[in-house]
Amino acid sequence: MAKTTIKDIIKAKQEGRKISVLTAADYLTASLIDEAGIDIILVGDSLGMTTLGYETTLPVTMEEMLHHTKAVVRGVKNSLVVGDMPFMSYQLSEDEAVENACLFLKEAGAEAIKLEGAADNIIRLVKRLTSIGIPVMGHLGLTPQSIHQFGGYDVQASNQEAAKILVDEAKQLQGAGAFSIVLEKIPAEIGGKVSESLDIPTIGIGAGPLCDGQVLVTADLLGLFSKFKPKFAKRYVELGEEMKKAFSEFRQEVQEGKFPTEEHSY
Ligand code: KIV
Repeated sequence: MAKTTIKDIIKAKQEGRKISVLTAADYLTASLIDEAGIDIILVGDSLGMTTLGYETTLPVTMEEMLHHTKAVVRGVKNSLVVGDMPFMSYQLSEDEAVENACLFLKEAGAEAIKLEGAADNIIRLVKRLTSIGIPVMGHLGLTPQSIHQFGGYDVQASNQEAAKILVDEAKQLQGAGAFSIVLEKIPAEIGGKVSESLDIPTIGIGAGPLCDGQVLVTADLLGLFSKFKPKFAKRYVELGEEMKKAFSEFRQEVQEGKFPTEEHSY
């Protein structure tokens, strides 16, 4: 298998091949996801909640994102690695945003960055980043960095007017040079509408089956994150329960002197 490129991702949509995306925050998980043939690994700022224990994604820093992106890159041979720009790393000034985006590629070894929204300043930034060779993945619908503005994790674009705005924002991001757009928590029908109105692929998370690809937070897919369980987060395995069982078994065997045996001794 060869390294996945931005060109491959755009071609996948043209050829009608669905794109798979998973998040990772560490070397080991990234290497397993890569070996499973997943197209894109997103070092999402959701790691703030799943790996660092924050209540929201807002406290995540550039330093933390770069640290985790470097670990992920070390585990990846083929998947395209996208680094998620954390809250306030791209909103304050355009120059600072460009500098921070550069760090994901230059220092951490990611191949693209993701940012949320489509306000005028974001569209200008996407144009600038793509013009200097930094591929950008957009993110619309429920954008968790604006959670306090939204006042909760409700479904977005659920009326006609909001859906029209969403389609328009997606087209603006495409026009600015984004290579793909994450659509989070919107009605399935609108996910389809946005997808068919764009040449670049949409990557859905709670945006229905008509998106060009799907992303899940790996801690959800593995059944590890249990603080809340969104409807869209399919749990393919209850690994958290399996891990707890293994930890308790170890504790018991240590207490009872059953571990280590001769097999594990020198
Ligand atoms: O941070 C993240 O993991 C994300 C995905 C939910 C798309 O942005």
